[in-house]
Amino acid sequence: MKNNLPTEAELRAAVEREMAPARADLENLVRIPGIAFPEFDHAQVDRSAEAVATLLRGCGLETGIVRAGGQPAVIGRKPAPPGAPTVLLYAHHDVQPSGDEALWDSDPFEPVERDGRLYGRGAADDKAGLMAHVVALRALGDALPVGVVVFVEGEEEYGSASLSELLRLHHDRLLADVVVIADSANWDVGVPALTTSLRGIVNCVVEVRTLRDPVHSGMFGGAVPDALTTLVRLLATLHEDDGDVAVEGLAMGPESTVELPVERVRAEAGMVDGVRFTGTGSLADRLWTRPSLSVLGVDAPSVLESGNALVPAARAKISARLAPGDEPVKAFAALREHLEAYCPWGAAISVSLDGGGAPCVIDTTGPRYETVRSALRTAWDGVSPVEIGVGGSIPAVSTFQAEFPDATIVVTGVEDPQTRAHGPNESLHLGEFTRVCLAEALMLAGLGRPTG
Ligand code: BES
Ligand code: MN
Repeated sequence: MKNNLPTEAELRAAVEREMAPARADLENLVRIPGIAFPEFDHAQVDRSAEAVATLLRGCGLETGIVRAGGQPAVIGRKPAPPGAPTVLLYAHHDVQPSGDEALWDSDPFEPVERDGRLYGRGAADDKAGLMAHVVALRALGDALPVGVVVFVEGEEEYGSASLSELLRLHHDRLLADVVVIADSANWDVGVPALTTSLRGIVNCVVEVRTLRDPVHSGMFGGAVPDALTTLVRLLATLHEDDGDVAVEGLAMGPESTVELPVERVRAEAGMVDGVRFTGTGSLADRLWTRPSLSVLGVDAPSVLESGNALVPAARAKISARLAPGDEPVKAFAALREHLEAYCPWGAAISVSLDGGGAPCVIDTTGPRYETVRSALRTAWDGVSPVEIGVGGSIPAVSTFQAEFPDATIVVTGVEDPQTRAHGPNESLHLGEFTRVCLAEALMLAGLGRPTG
């Protein structure tokens, strides 16, 4: 099939043939706990980058490892045949920490298959996204009709701090007509999706102080505020009683066109019986196109170590998800202003930014998107992709949009509603993974087809 576009049947067969070796490669990647968070061993992120580089070299790409003050990213390139477009394939090789390993049914870094799913940290998010690129390239082999640049980031889960610098430094080597970001989710097992928007994120730490040191809670309680009560009252001002966000100045996105089934969200989130949803309006709007505020952690004496003493200072980490259209800098200012204005009892307060990423809206019109839709439909045996918003964040999308404003951005992914990314027992649906790989191979073939 050299120099000749393979037929759909040939591509299907080629992808099928590649699944067993790809599975072994994916398992080896899952065994490397490459976590970009500062308290983890970054030698593992280096090992992970090396493993990715080996895979890309194996696909015949000219490959190098690059960094710009952060964790290593891997770039692999194969120039475009004359007149053909170039497609950039993005994924990230770093993973979330495993969290409490006792909550896992098997070792997070020793992949195992159960009921057609491969379990392990990063088995889906996003090592399978990376492997989808590898399988598509292997399946097409010398028949690849487009130029490709594979860009595999090493610190997505820690906020992609050096990504814009990497794109700026390597602009010319990365320049592409189409950017495929394989780090999102499909609608359901058997139903593909195209992501049309993602929320942004602003994390901040708020600290309140009411006392120089702890003092006897009986001697002073009643007239002297403790910092923990102060903090809790402050956090309570973030939402209205119905759960809607009460902070002014956060943008609202466009209304969603998709309706999310209430029972499905309840089940997927694992909500305890009797617990009600927060906020008003459609669930899709609340989860995808409007801001949300959550308290992720608190620093205060633990119950066990607490004595009968007033707590002098306490901290909380607040995470804001931003609606498509909002800006992290503006949103942080709005949040800080709210916290400073509502801090009770004259307590001293400090609010510091702890990372962020911009939201995005993706234009899914134009002829290239017809190729993309048709590839997904074929890989899912005639089922058309649902256009979804995503409540999570991929800062890379807006970074690519800014660096390559003329490129068509396509956000795909391997996740399904049972994936449990970031949680214990993360897993990849192996049947869906095959479809993702086939869709990407079909997409690359289709983008290289002369349109006349
Ligand atoms: N793959 C996720 C984003 C995602 C989540 C897509 C759910 C589809 C469905 C990504 O790796 C992620 O988790 N990103 C972080 C970004 C943050 C660290 C800036 C997130 O959303 O928390
Ligand atoms: Mn991811």
